[in-house]
This record gives sequence, C-alpha cells and structure tokens, in this order.
Amino acid sequence: MKRITKAIFPVAGLGTRFLPATKANPKEMLPIVDKPLIQYAVEEAVAAGVTELIFVTSSSKRAIEDHFDSNFELEATLEERGKQDLLDIVKGILPEGVSCAYIRQKSPQGLGHAVLCAKQLVMNEPFAVLLADDLIDGDKSCLQQMVDKFVETQSSIVAVQQIHRDETKKYGIVDVPSSTEIFSAIRGIVEKPDSEKAPSNLGVVGRYILTPRVFALLEQTNKGSGGEIQLTDAIAKLLFEEQVYAYQFTGKRYDCGTKLGYLEATIAYALKHPELAHDFKRTLQAFMHD
Ligand code: G1P
Repeated sequence: MKRITKAIFPVAGLGTRFLPATKANPKEMLPIVDKPLIQYAVEEAVAAGVTELIFVTSSSKRAIEDHFDSNFELEATLEERGKQDLLDIVKGILPEGVSCAYIRQKSPQGLGHAVLCAKQLVMNEPFAVLLADDLIDGDKSCLQQMVDKFVETQSSIVAVQQIHRDETKKYGIVDVPSSTEIFSAIRGIVEKPDSEKAPSNLGVVGRYILTPRVFALLEQTNKGSGGEIQLTDAIAKLLFEEQVYAYQFTGKRYDCGTKLGYLEATIAYALKHPELAHDFKRTLQAFMHD
C-alpha cells in the first residue's frame, strides 16, 4: 500500500492579476488575514501526512523560501522580549519532521511543465499537487478527503466542483458518467473548453493526487491551451493506462487567483478569526449601513 508523503506546490506563476502587489512579492505570499496563501496549502498537505514539500519556484519567489526557513534574528528578538506566543507561531510555520525542496522553473511554460520540473525529487511515488490560490475551507481538509480515497483506490484523483456552465473556459473539465456522483472514474478531461464543448459542469480545483506515470506522459505532452504544457493533457493520456477518479470534495473553495475570490476569502476568514471575529463583524455591519 502506497502513501502520499510528497507534495508539489507550483509557485512560479507571475501573478499578473494582482499587480502591482505581486511585482516584487509572490502572489502565494498574499495574506488571508494574517497567514500567506502558501502556508494554508502547506498546512493542508502536512495535516494530510505529507512530509516532503517541493516548491517549483521562479526567480522572484525568494520570499517563499525565506518564509519556510528559520529567521534567527526575529526569533532571538521575540525570545528576548518574552513574546512566546509569537515565537511559537513563527517556529511552527514548518513543523518538525517536514522538509522543503526548491526547484526553479526557468520559464513560465504552464502547470504541466512545473509539475514535470519536480520529477527527480518525487521519483517513483504517488504525490499530491496543491495550487495555493485555491483556498479550501472545510471540517476535513480537501487533501485529507482525497488521501482517504487514495488509500482505498491507489489511483490518481482530481478534486472537482460544480461550476457554472459559462465558466468552463477557466477550468479543466472532466467527463464522467454522472455529475451528481461524489466519486467517479473519469472518461476524459479537457483543459478550458468552450461551454458548448464542455463534457460536464465539473471543474478541476487545485488539488491532485497523481501516480508517477504522469511524469513520462508530461514529457510527451505538447503545448496546449494558452500555449502552455497542461497537466490536464497529461492526465487525459494517463486515462488510457490507469483509472483516474474525480472527487467532489466537501468544503468551500475560494478562488484567490482573482481579486473577488481573494476578498471573499479574506472576509470569511476574518469572520472566524479568534481575535478578530467579533470586532470585524461589527465593522462589516457598520459598512453595510453606510
Ligand atoms: C489550473 C489548471 C486547471 C484547473 C485550475 C484550478 O488552471 O490548469 O485545469 O481547473 O488550475 O484552479 P489555472 O487556474 O492555473 O489557469
């Protein structure tokens, strides 16, 4: 029985939708209240049993490496000032027993290419892929739900959710026998189809569990949608060789790759933040009455 201990975080994107905020700061470092998006994704992976974090980065992403590294000066100062609670927060960013590796994606050639960059580190094991700008909130995390399914099936699984028909151009769309089934073997998958050509209304959300066979298929994958090497296209090839499942997870997904989704997530997380919830609710109510 195989377990998922490695996760790839593709973080090389330019984040153009958030310029100028993302000129010198990676979009994955944008905070939702007080925690950067990438940390939510890492926490989700670690809680689901991942111990090796593989970040596929680009030249402007140094802040991510620094975030998951220790900061001696900051820690010493917090200790000196007796700020134990803050020290615990800072030291807890990367839990004991969890390691980080960084690989550079030299040019932005797409999600499939980014995943392929991690091949040498993943080697011959099944692995997870998490896209940090899909923030998913739920009692049991999305990746944990998928890992539970992986334990049963030992097969590749993509997270999906029902989307509006007019939004198919934003997602990988799966072809399944019935879009009401929570867990089903997929017959096909296509990247960002026009709505009239979309095989269903189930869009892929940024959580994948994949078998290592996908690497060889990525190597044979040509540029697809948007002129980029698409992970979706390699998964479509994988389907001819192995079972791949679509899983409609339980939880609320925020598309933090868009300004509106990012703001929605900020409000939702502030409204349940232990220190802020009460005051923020009042602030929000006052706003609504203005
Ligand atoms: C990527 C994938 C797409 C998936 C989406 C989920 O697209 O290529 O299949 O549906 O993430 O967020 P992107 O949003 O990077 O264009």
